[in-house]
Amino acid sequence: MILFSIAMWYSLLLPFERYTLSTISMWRWWGRPSEPPPPRYGYFLHITDFHVDEAYLPGATLESDCHRPPLQRTSSSPVAGRLGAPGYRCDSPIELVQQTLNWIKKEWRHQLDFVVWTGNNDVHPHNTLGDDHGLLSFYSQLWHPWIPSDQQSTFQAGGYFAVDLGRRLRALSLNTMYFYIKNDAVRGCHKPGIAQTQMLWLEQQLTKARNENVKVYVMGHVPPSPRDFRSSCFHDYTRLSAEFANVIHGHFYGHLNMDHFLMYDGGDMAITRNIDKYVDWLRDMYSSLDPPSVKAELPLVVIQVAPSVLPVYLPAIRIYQYEINDNDDRGKMPHGTLLGYKQYFANISQYQDAPLAYELEYDTKEAYGLHDLTVESYYQLAKDMMEESGKKLWDTFVENMFVQTMDSDELA
Ligand SMILES: *[C@@H]1O[C@H](CO)[C@@H](O)[C@H](O)[C@H]1NC(C)=O
Repeated sequence: MILFSIAMWYSLLLPFERYTLSTISMWRWWGRPSEPPPPRYGYFLHITDFHVDEAYLPGATLESDCHRPPLQRTSSSPVAGRLGAPGYRCDSPIELVQQTLNWIKKEWRHQLDFVVWTGNNDVHPHNTLGDDHGLLSFYSQLWHPWIPSDQQSTFQAGGYFAVDLGRRLRALSLNTMYFYIKNDAVRGCHKPGIAQTQMLWLEQQLTKARNENVKVYVMGHVPPSPRDFRSSCFHDYTRLSAEFANVIHGHFYGHLNMDHFLMYDGGDMAITRNIDKYVDWLRDMYSSLDPPSVKAELPLVVIQVAPSVLPVYLPAIRIYQYEINDNDDRGKMPHGTLLGYKQYFANISQYQDAPLAYELEYDTKEAYGLHDLTVESYYQLAKDMMEESGKKLWDTFVENMFVQTMDSDELA
């Protein structure tokens, strides 16, 4: 993937940052009881994988990664679009990212409590990040307003941090580069080193949250899977997730561009990289799950993997709804429970001139019949999709997985 200058990122994110800053000032309220509590709406945005490329050139050839104009203007072969080149190996034009942020600002700005933005692995050299304090202190400065002051030194040392999202809700943002199998600069989680240090930090944070009766969302870039995590780190991550299942109300990841969920019950898993086989692998995973009640000692874990803004398929963003239940009122779900999400996509081929508008792709309640996003509900969905009678549901799931660009017949 293409690298871009950090300065470009910063200028791009400025409108977004202002907006995120106001969210941060809301978080600050919790320490200052004299001020009125900020309104909470029960919605947040998960956005991932912008992959902005400042060298993207509309009209360029697709073979040049959308960087160079065709030598002759004769052929009718497709060229890079103004807002991107879905299905090709090009990154995103600045225009797509800017228009995406504009749409969010226009439609959602006043209803979002916070934003989950799951970073990237495109450091230089690619996929390689050790305890490079130059890079981490650079990001500490860049993201200074977003990282609580008591977390600055943690972030500078490892690129991970904790941040409160309001009363009794906290995000633990992981640096998944340290668990990533492609990162040669780290050892696994069972040997002394930065990966193990981060895993210990995660465990300490989860214990702390449990003691404080705070619910947690865990977020990162590369989703935990036997395909992408070092086995020792995958093992520890799933163990902690199961052990703290009643503390963690969500796991949010990106990186894979495909809209799906992973579900682990602690059993052994096969590994694959091919996309067709990846879907088969998911099928096997969903079919082999034991009911949550059978595994009381090892609860199921659901990992949310959101599709990207980068149009590998079509650009997509996700708005979650979560339960606000500060006082543990009965008749409501536990505080922080994910209730559902709306998945939006933009059919960029239709917007050559007009401002980009995202449209609703699906809603988890209507598309999948999910009353909430708990492990029990996802278990039922996985089972339903694997039934003989669940073919239609499975087909919907696969179409959504590739943001309406492929159906399950094309994969077969
Ligand atoms: C996107 O737009 C194209 C061109 O108008 C159309 O053919 C296609 O069906 C649209 N796709 C979706 C998922 O709406």
